[in-house]
Amino acid sequence: MAPSAERKVNFGLIGLGRHGSRYATHLLKDVPQAKLVAVCRRDREQGQAFAHRHGLIFCSDYHQLIENPGVQAIAIVVSPDLHLDICRHAVAAGKHVLLEKPLARNLAEGRQLKDLLDNARIKFMLAQTLRFNSVVREIKRLKDRVGKIHLAAFNQRMERHKLGWLDDPHVAGGGNILHTGVHIFDLIHFLLEEEVEWAWCRTGRVYHQRTEDIFAALLGLEMGKTICLVDSCKVTGGRSGRIELVGERGQLVGDHVLGTLIHIEDRRAVSLELPSSVHTVQKVLEAFANCILDDQTPSITAQDGLRTLRVAEMCYRSAQNGMVAKRRSYLNEGNIESK
Ligand SMILES: NC(=O)c1ccc[n+]([C@@H]2O[C@H](COP(=O)([O-])OP(=O)(O)OC[C@H]3O[C@@H](n4cnc5c(N)ncnc54)[C@H](OP(=O)(O)O)[C@@H]3O)[C@@H](O)[C@H]2O)c1
Repeated sequence: MAPSAERKVNFGLIGLGRHGSRYATHLLKDVPQAKLVAVCRRDREQGQAFAHRHGLIFCSDYHQLIENPGVQAIAIVVSPDLHLDICRHAVAAGKHVLLEKPLARNLAEGRQLKDLLDNARIKFMLAQTLRFNSVVREIKRLKDRVGKIHLAAFNQRMERHKLGWLDDPHVAGGGNILHTGVHIFDLIHFLLEEEVEWAWCRTGRVYHQRTEDIFAALLGLEMGKTICLVDSCKVTGGRSGRIELVGERGQLVGDHVLGTLIHIEDRRAVSLELPSSVHTVQKVLEAFANCILDDQTPSITAQDGLRTLRVAEMCYRSAQNGMVAKRRSYLNEGNIESK
């Protein structure tokens, strides 16, 4: 589909909840390459009021939004139970797709989605928003300073959430492992550029009834045999997101929530100056719109999403049976995933 004459991509947004509202704000105000033309949510009254306020089309049925000829690209910011159906319709209609993580509710559904997208002639990008965080990008840029990395630690701690569907396995697909863990699993691949080969995991429930709101895992990486310690919880009054890369020559210790980065060498810790912080959703939207306008392949693929789902599945299996889960049991032989 040809971009509009003023080099803007016309977006339709599905989901105007907690996170979708951030997409709406950036699409309306801060992304020169994009124009929000239509929105969709279930609540007709609130959706119509929002659309009226901003001069947009409102659809309470996402099929209508996808089929609207004025919409070139769809941003999908809803629960994962809807991802496959929305993507199927978007692909059939030839609309580009920007999809919030996780790719799907589980690995099997993720594979269906990837197969669908592999055969589609649209641009697809998975919104792993943390890849655009300035602390994360600085750690990636500086990681050679610490030499060969043998140990890494990642955690994410946040407050109890209020969304009911996040504790419904049919809608959410899983708990903290699937919804926050995938951010960390993606960071491991993004920063260390290796596959997770094995996983040992324990989960817990504090406020949740049906899915885990705490997990801790040990993950072993493929080539360098690096070990990663990972934990995440949604049960605390403070928010943080620590990343530690422990190399032969020193350490980088950052926090992508608090916006800090320290370089440790010998017994000295030096705080590093960071580029100014960015709105990650804005950066994701800019990157995706540029790919459409310049006919480039987006940097975060369905394969990346499938990889994080595989690590999530390994963690769930390990938590269930108490054993170490190995990556080779989850590869789809003959599929690109096995490479
Ligand atoms: N990258 C990140 O850091 C990050 C952060 C937060 C969330 N997320 C992801 O973003 C997604 C949404 O999370 P959220 O926190 O925004 O959830 P949320 O607040 O519950 O919002 C979900 C939205 O989806 C809409 N919706 C549900 N079913 C629909 C349907 N059948 N047709 C059209 N719209 C429908 C809801 O409409 P109504 O409100 O009208 O019912 C609501 O606007 C999740 O996949 C989550 O993992 C990512």
